[in-house]
Amino acid sequence: MSADLAKINAAAAALDFVEDGMLLGLGTGSTAAHFVRLLGERVKKGLNVRGVPTSEATDKLARDVGVPIVPVDRVGSLDLAVDGADEVDGAFRLIKGGGAALLREKIIAGAAKHFVVIADESKMVDTLGAFPLPVEVTAFGFTLTAQRIYSALKAHGCHGTEAGLRERDGKPVVTDGGNYIIDCKCAAIPDAEGLADALKRITGVVEHGLFLGMARTVIVGREKGAEVRER
Ligand code: A5P
Repeated sequence: MSADLAKINAAAAALDFVEDGMLLGLGTGSTAAHFVRLLGERVKKGLNVRGVPTSEATDKLARDVGVPIVPVDRVGSLDLAVDGADEVDGAFRLIKGGGAALLREKIIAGAAKHFVVIADESKMVDTLGAFPLPVEVTAFGFTLTAQRIYSALKAHGCHGTEAGLRERDGKPVVTDGGNYIIDCKCAAIPDAEGLADALKRITGVVEHGLFLGMARTVIVGREKGAEVRER
């Protein structure tokens, strides 16, 4: 199966939720990038929308394809946010942050009246956790914070856990906000709500990649077409 075609089909189906005049949250990652490109084509044909990007990469892409951008500190709420996901379970709970943009993604999705997730079908899971859970932490004291994250994972039934610093070319990956990412290899997360609460209470954790109770629509992209699921 072509994952890219499935991502494009999910992104294309999300355009049905876009209306003239809307203020849109623009997600990050390869699937969201397809959406931004398709949106740019519509804008060229006369669609009047504005976007708030969830990363520097999406900001650049949106400008390149002609989607007007609004700085995040100029908006109250958004009409619609469209973003990808690393995992989606049957209750529309998500793991996000594979692209290290989870903090801005969660701020934007949380400010949107309607959050639509676009994902190819390989992202659909019965239980969250096979994809390592990203947790954004302050650079200061990150080894101490990682130890506390590890303890929280154990306390919430995540077995076989590792909590490791995300690196690229031997250096820590730095988020758009100047923070680090700890990737938590859990295998399975049996208590996502409990773990989310515990992670939020750890000083040094900026945000985690569990998006719970946020998505209202999930669009599952396949090689042939897309399925729209509503909560
Ligand atoms: C970015 O930080 C992530 O939350 C992405 O939305 C997620 O990793 C999905 O990315 P792809 O669309 O590239 O699979």
